[in-house]
Amino acid sequence: MNLCVVGLQWGDEGKGKVVDILSEHSDIVVRYSGGSNAGHTVVVGDTRFALHLLPSGSVRPNVKCVITNAVVVDPEVLINEIETIANKGITLKGRLLISENAHVVLDYHKKEDQLREDSLGKNKIGTTIRGIGPCYADKAGRSHAVRMGDLRNLNKLKIKLQAIVDYKNKVFTAVYQKTEAPSSVIAALSADDIFEKCKTYADKLLPFTTDTTEFLHNSIALEKSILFEGAQGTLLDLDHGTFPYVTSSNSSALGMPAGCGVPTKFIDKFIGVAKAYTTRVGAGPFPTEQDNDIGQYIRDRGHEYGTTTGRPRRCGWFDAVALSYAVRIGAIDELALMHLDTLAGLSEVKICTAYNLKTEDSPQDALRQRQKTEAPSPPSVFRPPSSVVTWFPANIDRLSKAQAIYETVPGWDQDLTEVKDFTKLPPNAQNYISRIEKVIGRPITIIGVGPKRSQTIFRQ
Ligand code: GDP
Ligand code: IMO
Ligand code: MG
Repeated sequence: MNLCVVGLQWGDEGKGKVVDILSEHSDIVVRYSGGSNAGHTVVVGDTRFALHLLPSGSVRPNVKCVITNAVVVDPEVLINEIETIANKGITLKGRLLISENAHVVLDYHKKEDQLREDSLGKNKIGTTIRGIGPCYADKAGRSHAVRMGDLRNLNKLKIKLQAIVDYKNKVFTAVYQKTEAPSSVIAALSADDIFEKCKTYADKLLPFTTDTTEFLHNSIALEKSILFEGAQGTLLDLDHGTFPYVTSSNSSALGMPAGCGVPTKFIDKFIGVAKAYTTRVGAGPFPTEQDNDIGQYIRDRGHEYGTTTGRPRRCGWFDAVALSYAVRIGAIDELALMHLDTLAGLSEVKICTAYNLKTEDSPQDALRQRQKTEAPSPPSVFRPPSSVVTWFPANIDRLSKAQAIYETVPGWDQDLTEVKDFTKLPPNAQNYISRIEKVIGRPITIIGVGPKRSQTIFRQ
């Protein structure tokens, strides 16, 4: 069975936990997009791993781990991660494969990310400053790109780095030197320093570097069980998310085939991961955001602080409009709904089932208008266009106007963290799950009630 696990919201849905659990039955786990902007948490017993580049299967000693072409690899982060988990007694020797065609994140990418964000002031995207956007930009631009395979020919790389760094120094100085940004005093980057680091990267990472596409196709032919692990979430997808407040890769399920060279026809099941509410880090529209006591309650109970940057995550109600969109563009078969435990103690819980895009109407007026316009009528009868939509407007101008229309269901007080069986959940929690399944039109087969492996409910 080959599975693909993908985030359906704005990231941090709990993909790391789901991949860790499912990889018990996998031979291979594959990271196919993004870079060290990702932070996937895996909890094994009392040990917590925060993985940025290694696939979440890496904590299982018998699983092979693959980092494919479309991942942007920050060698410093990856080496650190390999060493950190080695110190916890888990070795990657002989079971980590890194694509020779994966692009390399170098110091100038991180610097450019920081300079650009600083210069944008209140218009900043709120990136992780991990150099992701600048590295993908160099990949698309081609002439200044460095790939893992380039570490094999250090003489050639030295010459290339000199040219790239000369160019970057000129651009950074010309563009950013005079801005008001705090980091606007541009210290020139040294090509020699970056080259010296590359020598270390070559020593430590070339033993793992190979043609991962060939490896994956050979593994498919051998009927190995492969788990593809998405990073970020569908709404952060460069082409299908809330642009420009997105990441720089195709982080929806659509990025999987292009990211690793394996067509989706080889995937038996796409599993979408969502939280029982919504979170977002960084800027951008968030129609169900609760910038109030409810949001703070969720943040406190769910420990909603970024795994990569430590930033407080913005929190809000479950958004079934956004979720339905993510399910459709990802051809998602079933859902894992995480953090159900976090919602305990709220007297009522809300599910956003539609948006009103016409700001002058109150959501309730708009709902009434929709109910009127949706009364059965012959297809030939003209129906006035409604400002109420159930299809997610990924266009930022329309989304920014969206007012959430909610369905409210009763909450529950009971602690869920020890519940092992769906039927043992409080009836209101069961009802919440069933309601989401109905609105989304997909079954919820995994329910998270805590960060540990054992705090998971499975349903058939
Ligand atoms: P990812 O990026 O999608 O892998 O998610 P993160 O690891 O960034 O954030 C998810 C956080 O929620 C981590 O701290 C997990 O340990 C934690 N977590 C995952 N599932 C659950 C759950 O069902 N309940 C609770 N309370 N925590 C969870
Ligand atoms: P995981 O895999 C949550 C967000 C950033 C910012 C935007 C662009 O842990 O779910 P970037 O550094 O990629 O240029 O930032 O994307 N972002 C994430 N948010 N989880 C992630 O990954 C994210 N990766 C990027 O906060 O808003
Ligand atoms: Mg994360």
